[in-house]
Amino acid sequence: MAEFVTCADLSALKAGESKVVEVEGRTLALFNVGGTVYCLDNTCLHRGGPLGEGTLEGDIVTCPWHGWQYNVRTGESLKDPSVRVATYPVRVEGRNIQVSIGG
Ligand code: FES
Repeated sequence: MAEFVTCADLSALKAGESKVVEVEGRTLALFNVGGTVYCLDNTCLHRGGPLGEGTLEGDIVTCPWHGWQYNVRTGESLKDPSVRVATYPVRVEGRNIQVSIGG
């Protein structure tokens, strides 16, 4: 069973906000969409921009570097759904946001 690791406190990620976290050596982006937290790899597939520092509108994040957009629920690029950032399972235990990066 996949192991979940606590990476942030829910109070630090309000609805509509995003955040960059480190989990076991990986840099990930958390997004709070209406109270549900999603996790993507932080690295934009264009040129490596930090998605967790992008602009979140609804469930769409816009990369801060050149504007590529991704659906944070699926990781898919809006322009080309065959381009997909990795997503990771998230759960909230009490106030703890936990992510699983295992298989
Ligand atoms: S690095 Fe993200 S749009 Fe260019």
